[in-house]
Amino acid sequence: EKSGYEHFMLKEIFEEPQTLRNALMGRIRGGVPNFNEIEHLREEIEKARSLTILACGTSFHAGLVFQRFLQDYTEIRAEVEVASEFRYRRLQEGFSDLVVAISQSGETADTLEGIRKAKKLGTKIISLTNVVGSTISRESDAVIYINAGPEIGVAATKTYVAQLAVLLLLGAAIADIAGRSGFDIPKIVNELEGMPTVFENTLPTADEQCKRLAAEHSDYKHFMYIGRGYSYASALEGALKLKEISYIHASGYQAGELKHGPIALLDKDFPVFAIVPEDELKSKMISNIMETRARDAKVLALCSENDKEVAKSVNSRIEVPRVLDPIYPLVMSPYLQLFAYYIAVKKGLDPDKPRNLAKSVTVE
Ligand code: F6R
Repeated sequence: EKSGYEHFMLKEIFEEPQTLRNALMGRIRGGVPNFNEIEHLREEIEKARSLTILACGTSFHAGLVFQRFLQDYTEIRAEVEVASEFRYRRLQEGFSDLVVAISQSGETADTLEGIRKAKKLGTKIISLTNVVGSTISRESDAVIYINAGPEIGVAATKTYVAQLAVLLLLGAAIADIAGRSGFDIPKIVNELEGMPTVFENTLPTADEQCKRLAAEHSDYKHFMYIGRGYSYASALEGALKLKEISYIHASGYQAGELKHGPIALLDKDFPVFAIVPEDELKSKMISNIMETRARDAKVLALCSENDKEVAKSVNSRIEVPRVLDPIYPLVMSPYLQLFAYYIAVKKGLDPDKPRNLAKSVTVE
């Protein structure tokens, strides 16, 4: 059932073009996002001033991208919170006009308890999940399925990609309904529509490049992933993938935070994985990269195609297609996943079954 792939994780990464097609199917009509699932909440969305996003782990990283998107393109105050923290904090009625819960399995205990708590205070819940009939889907006011199909690998890969695609589209839909969009919806929607093909065209090269760079980096004991803006989510997700399947210690930071402490760790044995697309914040990222180079850290960058400035600032790099700022986390996902995958394989580990982890976390 691995269809010739060595592991489910690799097979599922290679399914991502089709995953994206399925995730977007029926959700774009005449260049406009279309979510029948939230139609009955149209009035609530129109009036919403605040929105809380709840999730754990990789789904939390998808939530970070969604939060940033709503902050950039709507006037809704969007905040993402780790569900295990949210469920135990003091809350009052009206804490948020809407809740969006993100859970691939639809069964994560903390996320479920989070929505129960919000519901008691009368907040409407929109949930995003992959599993039809899951507990979270049954307890929500509206459910959006990501349609990624079953994921066997314990570490989330194709489901993350599906979450991002659907959340970006949902963000565009909310901006549209709330009538406060500061951007051209068709442009984002159009680019999202082209993503399955972009993934198809880039995966074979991504695979080769990540394999080569993983071989060169598999002996390090630590990694520091850095990013800004939308790429902060990519830094966290890249670090999580690496630690969970290769057992290499990795952390993700907002690049601007380096000088407030973490930079003290860096030396020639502590490499930096910089997420540095050609976006609004690139020049800030390049300054941060220079600071790490000054500590002799080796820098590996994920950057945009033909970016000469990044090329001359880093030790090695992998180039991704140029896209609109909010779409970078999506395009970069398979690269982060493949890099972690090949490091695990190089170390002789089974990436499908990382130690101490379960596919769905139904206990606290
Ligand atoms: C990491 C991973 C986990 C899950 C987390 C939430 O690769 O898979 O971090 O993302 O346990 O799970 P769901 O999305 O099912 O609520």
